[in-house]
Order: sequence, then C-alpha cells, then structure tokens
Amino acid sequence: MNQKKRILTGDRPTGRLHLGHYVGSLVNRVKLQEEYETFILIADVQALTDHFEHPEILQQNIREVTKDYLAVGIDPGKSTIFIQSLIPEIAELAVYYLNLVTVARLQRNPTVKDEMQQKGFEQNLPAGFLVYPVHQAADITIFNADLVPVGKDQLPMIEQTVEIVRRFNTFYAPVLVEPQAKVGEFARLPGIDGQAKMSKSLGNAIYLADDAKAVEAKVMRMYTDPTRLRATDPGHIEGNPVFVYHDAFNPDKEEVADLKERYVQGKVGDVEVKKKLTRALNAFLDPIREQRAKYDQDEKAIDEILKEGTRRARAVAQETMGQVRRAMKIDYPFQG
Ligand code: TRP
Repeated sequence: MNQKKRILTGDRPTGRLHLGHYVGSLVNRVKLQEEYETFILIADVQALTDHFEHPEILQQNIREVTKDYLAVGIDPGKSTIFIQSLIPEIAELAVYYLNLVTVARLQRNPTVKDEMQQKGFEQNLPAGFLVYPVHQAADITIFNADLVPVGKDQLPMIEQTVEIVRRFNTFYAPVLVEPQAKVGEFARLPGIDGQAKMSKSLGNAIYLADDAKAVEAKVMRMYTDPTRLRATDPGHIEGNPVFVYHDAFNPDKEEVADLKERYVQGKVGDVEVKKKLTRALNAFLDPIREQRAKYDQDEKAIDEILKEGTRRARAVAQETMGQVRRAMKIDYPFQG
C-alpha cells in the first residue's frame, strides 16, 4: 500500500474555536483525516508571540481547543493532536531557517503586516512576532507535510514556507517537502457585525461551544442590509451576513431560496430570516455540543490524547531533524 500523504495544520490556543474556524478549516480537517495522515499543532509558542504577557490563558485554552476539535469530529485515532512547545526540535529548526529569510521579506508578509497593524505594534515590534512565519515554516516542514489546510489569511505563510524549503533544498540537500495550502470552500465567514472576518479579538464570533440562547442573541444582533430600513424595502443578499450564514449552515436550500426571493422583493422581515437562521445554526451545533459535553465529563481523556499525540509527533520531528542536521553538516560523528 502507498504511504499516505501528510497534513499539518494548527491553531493558536488564544480562545475557543468559532464558526469561522469551522468553515475555514475544521470541516476540511474532518474530511481529510480519512485520506491523509494528519498532524494538528496547537501553537502555544506562537500564542506567546502576541500574548506574551498572558501565559495564564494557555493551559485552559489548549484544553478548550482540543475539546472543540474532538467535538466537531476530529478523531484522535486518525489525527495526531499535539502541543508545539513540547517539540523543541521545531524551535531548533526555526533558528536554522532564520538564515534563509531576510527581514525585508518578513516585513512584506501580508499576514504579518495585517496583524502588526491590528495590534498597533508600529515601532515596538517584538522580534519574535516578526519571525513567526519562520517558526510556522518549521512547524510545517518538520512533519514533511504535503498539504496545509488553513484559512485564507494564512496563505502568505505557506508561500513563505515554500520559499524557505526551496532555499534549503538548493543550498543543502533536497530533504524538505514543499507544502501546498488548501483553503476551505467557504474561505471566510464575516463576523456578526458585518466585518469581513469573524474573530475573537473583534468580539464578533459565534463559538462552537455557545449554547442555544447565546446563538439566538448573537443572531438577533447580527448585521444585515444597512440600506434596508423597513421589511417592505427591497433588500440585498450579496455580502449580507445573515445570508452568508444561511448558505453556509442551513441545509434546507428551499427555505433559503425562498427567504432570499422574498428579501429582495421586500416581502420578509429580518426577524423571520434571523429566526430561521437561529434554528439552522442550533441544529448544526447541537451534535457538536453533545460531543463536547462528554469530554467535559472526562478531562483525563484530554490529557491522554495530548500526551500520546505529542509523543507521536515528536518521533516524526526528531527523524526529520536528523536529516536536516546531516544536510547542514552538523551531524557530528562522535555523537553516534
Ligand atoms: N498561524 C496559525 C494561526 O494563527 C496557526 C499555526 C501555527 C499554523 N503553525 C501552523 C497553521 C502551521 C498551519 C500550519 O491560526
């Protein structure tokens, strides 16, 4: 049998996962774990690049994120879930990669630029933050990942990783695999406030762990068509968050088509559209909540999954590091 191709992907444990994560990457991961050998990295080291002053959030968030994974159907028998900082070989590899990128190239990375702006770093940019794409290249390549399923905002990271791989393979030896990105079908979900992206820091997210009441309250607050003042005004569908969500989560396509038709004609109010969306979202989230509740009763299972995942991941990372050290001629013979 052919060896399975490999996936590496990950999340920063800065909070619970939300619907944006679901459509942007989780749904892909659940599908792809059947076909690929999957590694899922919980990026605690990277979380410290933007929350270095808040280390206390990490441990709890790692557990929450792991529960979110399991609740949506990531199967620890098929996917290896592990903690970044417990694989010190990643940090080691990142140090070597730092020689293969320029500061100017890092400053041009659109993901870094966006986040620098969001966080208002300006002249006080921490060096660790600037170089995190290099760290991410190490995350991906130390597992010889073929495919990296991520949200669209992460594409520049994969591009930069490919550049590093090519330089490494040219300068030293062709030991690294060039990864490919894979973006989810619904690459980006708007926030409930209509901003382009759902995100914890923008406070506009619906979480996988939100209960039915919280979902209802958020949907009722959701931004719709700003040009429509009355239910009898013709409305716009395009880019309207309630309809983006209906398209993504309401399996009743006839209901959605009917709502859209009446919306453009000014024959349905926001409240009906939102009530139906609430119902669809809660029906979607119910089985996820049920799964999550099981793990809330069994914290030991979470420890075991993380421990075993980290053990498996580390073995792979050590093997790649052996090849890297050999290629870079730092495999000293007296080391055996
Ligand atoms: N940078 C990603 C994020 O902020 C998380 C991450 C870290 C990642 N290492 C990765 C994603 C490697 C894909 C591959 O969400």
